[in-house]
Amino acid sequence: MKSILLLVITLAAIVLTTNAWDESEITGYHFHTYFFQNNKNSYQRALLFRRQVHEEIEHGSLKGCRVNHFNVVPTGPHPIGSFETCCNSSSLSHGMSWFMLNRGNHSVLFHPLTRYEIIDHTDRVMFLGSPLFIDLTPLEADRHEADTCDPIPYVEPTPQPHEQ
Ligand SMILES: *[C@@H]1O[C@H](CO)[C@@H](O)[C@H](O)[C@H]1NC(C)=O
Ligand SMILES: *[C@@H]1O[C@H](CO)[C@@H](O)[C@H](O)[C@H]1NC(C)=O
Repeated sequence: MKSILLLVITLAAIVLTTNAWDESEITGYHFHTYFFQNNKNSYQRALLFRRQVHEEIEHGSLKGCRVNHFNVVPTGPHPIGSFETCCNSSSLSHGMSWFMLNRGNHSVLFHPLTRYEIIDHTDRVMFLGSPLFIDLTPLEADRHEADTCDPIPYVEPTPQPHEQ
């Protein structure tokens, strides 16, 4: 009886170790800031917020991050307007603190970057503010490699008709 118990414990220990949490799997993090693209107020605030993120990357605490396109229509898995900020794996605490303090009332989808895109956007996803349903169909279960938040040039979006 004792030896069976020992065997069970040993097997459990092996299973737990082989499924061990491997932080090195995470190459970085995405923060997707949402805005209502047809609501002038929400749109303008998102635009300003994106400039603040850019300033913070250039001169502040978000040096390990980069800001991506301003999507004025639903793009990829995102159901409304959005823009992405990618923070490398050593910038999590700064990125998270910054978004917590500065997002205003924009919902922000937050997820880790591993090769497993669907799990990253489902089981591992978090929202700052109200959660939204996202469309998983554009995502791949296994991309074989993850985004690494390499710098890309910052581009101001072209003004939309309702801004002129
Ligand atoms: C993240 O970016 C910062 C700023 O460029 C850099 O100092 C740091 O080494 C980067 N971390 C990783 C894990 O690449
Ligand atoms: C979100 O915040 C902005 C700026 O503080 C405010 O003008 C707007 O009414 C708020 N929207 C909602 C839905 O609370």
